[in-house]
Amino acid sequence: MTDPIQQVVTILKQAQRLAVLTGAGVSKESGVPTFRDALEGLWARYDPQQLATPDAFQRNPKLVWDWYEYRRQMVRMAEPNPGHYALAALESYFPEMVVITQNVDDLHEQAGSSDVIHLHGNIAQSKCFANCQGVPTLIDVAELDTDETPPKCPHCGAYVRPDVVWFGEILPEDALLRAYHISEQADVMLVIGTSGMVTPAANLPEVAQYNGAPVIEVNPDTSMITRIASVKLDGPSGVMLPRLLEALRNDD
Ligand code: OAD
Repeated sequence: MTDPIQQVVTILKQAQRLAVLTGAGVSKESGVPTFRDALEGLWARYDPQQLATPDAFQRNPKLVWDWYEYRRQMVRMAEPNPGHYALAALESYFPEMVVITQNVDDLHEQAGSSDVIHLHGNIAQSKCFANCQGVPTLIDVAELDTDETPPKCPHCGAYVRPDVVWFGEILPEDALLRAYHISEQADVMLVIGTSGMVTPAANLPEVAQYNGAPVIEVNPDTSMITRIASVKLDGPSGVMLPRLLEALRNDD
């Protein structure tokens, strides 16, 4: 049987428009924990109902704020890994390549990816809980002269919260609409490091496949995406994506 990397090269060589969907797995080798890893995943150690819902924030704003501060610091210290860099370098092979990410870090951008859609927000940013000046009302916390945790919105006095999507909330509309559009138009979709358990992001590979694009998965484990993948690169993205890039270069 042909080497899976070679199979992917053959598929990618025919593609003009590449859509990429990434999840927490792509940042794992940068030291940012995933959510559903049985031992080290965030949701194995913390209860999302206590930390990642609007109700949880209203019940205990300080607890939620402090937990996100802890995660912010982890993300601030993280650097892109070889998977992020290889993905950014893949751009030169396609007239159009868009990364749709569920991640709230900016490691794709740091690595040089030029078109990244953030479906679940940006952990480095904060916004007014009431979005009093429009959706989202971003607040620069560094500019607020306060020690309160969480700080208060300077416009309306509501609590400031992280600019991330919590369970039970709708995704940013522009990002989601564009993600659907890119998935529908794609010639190929590459799905990297996601369990495929959280919709609507998890529906995008099916949207791409329904519109004729083969789905290629990069994941060391089986996921909800595996059953629809035409080819799977079975391994960490920090290893498999540089290998794929090298194979593409050698095929030139
Ligand atoms: P999960 O934690 O659910 O899944 C991570 C996936 O990455 C798993 O399938 C792992 O097998 C895979 N993985 C682990 N190490 C990897 C590596 N080195 N390279 C590639 N893959 C690896 O994370 P997501 O699917 O991103 O939502 O989770 C989706 C959403 O659930 C998150 O965005 C978050 C969470 O609740 C919000 O915060 C709104």
